[in-house]
Amino acid sequence: MTESTTSGATPAPLIVLAGATGELGLLIAHHLRRRGAEVRALVRPASLAGAEAESLRQQGIEVTGVDYNSVADLTRACRDATCVVSALNGLREVMVETQGRLLEAAVAAGVPRFIPSDFSADFTRVPEGSNRNFDLRREFARRLDAAPIQATSVLNGMFMDLLRGTAPVVLAGPRLVLYWGRPDQPLDFTTMVDTADFTAAAALDPSTPRYLRVAGAVASPRQLREAATAATGQRYRLLRPGGLGLLSTLIKLTKTLAPAPDDVFPPWQGMQYLHNMLSGDAKLQGPLDNNRYPDIRWAPLRTVLAGR
Ligand SMILES: NC(=O)c1ccc[n+]([C@@H]2O[C@H](COP(=O)([O-])OP(=O)(O)OC[C@H]3O[C@@H](n4cnc5c(N)ncnc54)[C@H](OP(=O)(O)O)[C@@H]3O)[C@@H](O)[C@H]2O)c1
Repeated sequence: MTESTTSGATPAPLIVLAGATGELGLLIAHHLRRRGAEVRALVRPASLAGAEAESLRQQGIEVTGVDYNSVADLTRACRDATCVVSALNGLREVMVETQGRLLEAAVAAGVPRFIPSDFSADFTRVPEGSNRNFDLRREFARRLDAAPIQATSVLNGMFMDLLRGTAPVVLAGPRLVLYWGRPDQPLDFTTMVDTADFTAAAALDPSTPRYLRVAGAVASPRQLREAATAATGQRYRLLRPGGLGLLSTLIKLTKTLAPAPDDVFPPWQGMQYLHNMLSGDAKLQGPLDNNRYPDIRWAPLRTVLAGR
């Protein structure tokens, strides 16, 4: 174990962060430090010498190499933590098995709280078997709910950052908003930075409920079109290739032609994610928890849609 920081008489809470070298993990680590936490990043030995680990060290984060196959090693690494946060990413081996060992270790080390790597639309409401990655979250949630630890999942809809990138929704070239089904179906979006900041705040908050639901913006395809037009000053149009039934058929076809079973997010998985959002099945329900930490200023759609 490397650097540590102390501030005054009351020691800062120690948060153990798994997946800290990932895109979201790096942001959570940054916001935890900004909020005054001590952070211990658990990193695979092969990633200890990487640029991400170095950037964590430069922020005063304790970077610890761990064998994720060893509950004993993970238990040592979880010692003294007030919360374990997972930002791991992968398929069943990672989301259920590796996170499962991390959970076992957190319990063995007496850590009171655990935040799993959910960070998604509301997978709890989506029918079992409809979305492989949501099924993995549900499977892990069953383990988490049976464990003697206080669990909190952060549900944030789709990362807003993907709107003009990976997710083919707002198409800058032809100035189209591509959607399936209904143009007025509300959809939830939150930037990765805001999700990380909220997660950091939640990790330091001892009284969080089982689920926290946030959305920096809620917008239907029609409202996305208006927002893209306003943000860019260029007129966007709606394009509806068909209904959700046609999208389901295309998902099946894509999965058959390009199964990519080892990819975490192959094209058919992205299409399935959109289907779950456009059908309303994965919509965040009830009052959102956006105001739980009043210092968070949620980035609006225009910051992403303007390409800034
Ligand atoms: N809502 C959305 O739209 C959305 C979009 C994207 C992601 N997400 C979610 O956000 C979370 C984080 O995703 P991300 O994009 O930040 O992931 P990422 O950049 O791929 O990072 C994954 C992290 O997991 C670690 N990892 C992967 N396999 C591992 C293993 N077998 N054992 C130990 N560590 C392992 C990686 O460590 P190394 O550095 O050692 O490889 C890395 O730190 C996931 O739950 C993901 O599904 C949500």
